[in-house]
Amino acid sequence: MEPIIETRNLTRRFGGLVAVNEMNLAIERGEVRGLIGPNGSGKTTLINLISGVYEPTSGDVLFNGKSIAGWSPNRIANYGLLRSFQVPRLFGSMSVMENMLIARFADFRLDYRKDYDGATEKAQQLLEMAELDPLRDKPAKILSGGQKALLQIVRGFMVDNISVYLLDEPFAGVNVVVKETIMKVIEQMRQAGVTFLLVSHEMASVRRMCSRVTVMAQGARIAEGSMEEVAANPQVIDAYLGGKK
Ligand SMILES: Nc1ncnc2c1ncn2[C@@H]1O[C@H](COP(=O)(O)OP(=O)(O)OP(=O)(O)O)[C@@H](O)[C@H]1O
Ligand SMILES: [Mg+2]
Repeated sequence: MEPIIETRNLTRRFGGLVAVNEMNLAIERGEVRGLIGPNGSGKTTLINLISGVYEPTSGDVLFNGKSIAGWSPNRIANYGLLRSFQVPRLFGSMSVMENMLIARFADFRLDYRKDYDGATEKAQQLLEMAELDPLRDKPAKILSGGQKALLQIVRGFMVDNISVYLLDEPFAGVNVVVKETIMKVIEQMRQAGVTFLLVSHEMASVRRMCSRVTVMAQGARIAEGSMEEVAANPQVIDAYLGGKK
């Protein structure tokens, strides 16, 4: 079957620095693909390239077999590919529920009046899945850092037709309870048909969530396979230890 996301020789330079270097990646539909690698290896830049935040210097990004390289982030999101940000972008004085709804009605194609009940119901279900429903009428600013990260993640599912979700360090600075909830949400949405790319330094979580893991170092893919396979790969061990010698 055709991969849902594919990058072909994807390259991004910043001046003399090659942040992503001839990167080839193919993610199958319904996967939760892990993406790991030492600091500065190009993981976030890869997400920025796939989601349209950066334009590639060369190479291509295919989504459902179609080139999306050079598309704007909005156009890519409307097409069903979303990304999360490491720092949650929420409206602090608006309620948790309003933060969910704004994601929906920021899409100007939707008629606010027609869609309100359906959107509220969908938001309620997602908040229940995230165990945030008791806080639905509270201002978002009172949430803990972890709850904010969780809200940002489930808010993404308010967008219609989401089929791919790129998560950049969703567990960073999140306590164990919220971490478990985030993993539960990812697994439930995977079963509902969403494909994930999960960037994380939390090896235990990646091992649990991802049957296949891609390892980047210096902008390129150096290994791919199960967590056990890549963890035993000498090139991977070297990439992680190399910077610390
Ligand atoms: N906008 C930018 N301008 C210049 N250099 C950049 C830019 N974005 C990233 N880089 C550089 O590209 C390289 C890859 O960075 P990137 O943030 O993609 O790494 P990462 O794998 O996400 O690291 P981390 O695990 O620390 O989040 C780094 O050397 C970084 O300094
Ligand atoms: Mg990063």
